[in-house]
Amino acid sequence: LELTRGAHGAHAHGATLVSAGVAPTVTPFTRALLIPPVLSPLLSTLTTDYYRMTIRPAQVEIFPGFRTDVLSYGGQFTGPTIRARAGRKIVITQTNGMSDPTAVHLHGGHVPPESDGHPMDTFDPGSSRVYTYPNRQAGATLWYHDHAHHLEAEHVYRGLAGFYTIKDDVEDRLRLPSGAHDVPLMFRDAQFDELGQLVYAMGGFRDRKTVLVNGRAQPFFRVKRRKYRFRLLNTCLDRDLNLTLGADGELVQIASDGGLLPAPVPATSVAVWPGERVEVVVDFTRYATGTQVVLVNDRGSEDSTRNVLRFDVVGDADDDESVIPATLRPLPDLGEPTVTRDVSFSMDLATGTFLLDGKTFDPTRVDQNVKLGTTELWRIHNPAGGPPIPHNMHLHLAQFQVVERDGLPVIGHEAGLKDTVTVRSGSNVSFKVRFDGYTGRYVYHCHLLEHSSMAMMAQMEITR
Ligand code: C2O
Ligand code: CU
Ligand code: CU
Repeated sequence: LELTRGAHGAHAHGATLVSAGVAPTVTPFTRALLIPPVLSPLLSTLTTDYYRMTIRPAQVEIFPGFRTDVLSYGGQFTGPTIRARAGRKIVITQTNGMSDPTAVHLHGGHVPPESDGHPMDTFDPGSSRVYTYPNRQAGATLWYHDHAHHLEAEHVYRGLAGFYTIKDDVEDRLRLPSGAHDVPLMFRDAQFDELGQLVYAMGGFRDRKTVLVNGRAQPFFRVKRRKYRFRLLNTCLDRDLNLTLGADGELVQIASDGGLLPAPVPATSVAVWPGERVEVVVDFTRYATGTQVVLVNDRGSEDSTRNVLRFDVVGDADDDESVIPATLRPLPDLGEPTVTRDVSFSMDLATGTFLLDGKTFDPTRVDQNVKLGTTELWRIHNPAGGPPIPHNMHLHLAQFQVVERDGLPVIGHEAGLKDTVTVRSGSNVSFKVRFDGYTGRYVYHCHLLEHSSMAMMAQMEITR
């Protein structure tokens, strides 16, 4: 499966060829969780916030005493968080300080095509690119990441991902936990060599035996006895997570990819597949001071991929006015579909290629012609027969609503707005989607980024 890896990877260092040495480790839960810094605007006008960022190699200390080479937005291994406000525009000038071309995609964003970060719409080392994000969409947890065709998997793996959150008035009125109690958690997996350098190998996910949370392995996070909102984002290339606080723990899901659910959904575990966001509220008043609560990924098979984060309950909160309201935000009415499309994932075993509708990505080809203003039903198929590989359908531009999985209606958090959905082998998923706002070419692809890097991607053209 080595076929279409970029001719030049992100070799900012010479350590990528070191094989199977013993990688450094950490003593679990001895280092504090890092919270990614919030990016400050250079300038704010009545309507718009202006930002600047440089995409560049950096060194970070993932293991005490080791300098690890990464690719970064602004020197940060977990990119700086960009905080947007619904109705206020953001303009970001990105400068490419790497040796590879790059495109910056706003995942989950409802943005014009020239700011979407289409995989062919890259800019070269030494040049800059201005992206404009209108933020004419409801509050949600989005993320920005590299999308240079064939290179996105390696670039994201090496660090090119950050949070982009949108807040709005509806959300403000709900009094969900906010400020320091609204915590983004970015999960990524990694393989390290004995020098503590990241090892990137296509198809190597079983060797990525470390799950990092905000760039650290098995950190601890001190919490007070009160409610916290956690924005969970899985940026692993192909590892799915199923997170739990144990059988007696409770995670109350309040939002999916596209923002708030109609009502909170309490659960003992939440699945987060690559590209997806799940927001939960955890109420730590159920734990006594001194309790240590481990966030377990029960899909992990070793300590370093299972016990990913520990919450240390350190005392009472002086002031807790946050609530989990009984209702959150009604779902928008996407209308009745007037067009139905079938899209299939498959694999060509002879060549080891990942296909969408039997084809690899061809940027000169339009795979779906969509009329602006139309509501469509997309039926995504992952037929059994080949290797039993799940795929994650992701659409640029639009949030969709899953209506059925294997012929059965979906309920609870699965019925919320999403832009990425898992289709297991032998399974099919249908969603409703409405194409509004912008015309132009946008891609859809498998969000197991190794697959999209190998061209499991196609594009739609939206016209008037
Ligand atoms: Cu998260 Cu096309 O990407
Ligand atoms: Cu996207
Ligand atoms: Cu896939």
